[in-house]
Amino acid sequence: MTGLAVYEEIDEIIGKHQEEKTPLLSILQEIQERWRYLPGDVLGYVSRKLDIPSSMVWGVATFYSFLKTEPAGEYVIRVCCNAPCHVNGSVDVLKTLQKELGIKEGETSRDGKFTLETTSCLGVCGVAPAMMINDVTYGNLSEDRIREILALYR
Ligand code: FES
Repeated sequence: MTGLAVYEEIDEIIGKHQEEKTPLLSILQEIQERWRYLPGDVLGYVSRKLDIPSSMVWGVATFYSFLKTEPAGEYVIRVCCNAPCHVNGSVDVLKTLQKELGIKEGETSRDGKFTLETTSCLGVCGVAPAMMINDVTYGNLSEDRIREILALYR
């Protein structure tokens, strides 16, 4: 990621959190909220600005599953894998999505459209198994229903 404006924005984010006891996580979270992932050059910049070894910055960026060092797809699919969804077939939901999209959990499709993840309860256990695509929730998933839903996003 390049451009003076980008680094000015990052400076602003760093400035906001610099006085915190442990600013690094807050800074990385806010950068990710802004750009949806943490590019390597940005991590290097944060490391220099905070005077923290880049190995430590990368360590934090890769330790937490909610932080991403690769760009996510346009549509992030999160399959619920908690007990109610599990007993109602979330494993099959995941298998169907993997087959349909040609990617495994944690991966992004080559066209950059879909990222596939698992998550904990989405709060709609009554319609398990369930998944979210970005901020839209879908329940009562079957193989056919998953194909119909994916068609809306392709
Ligand atoms: S367990 Fe899947 S939505 Fe609650």
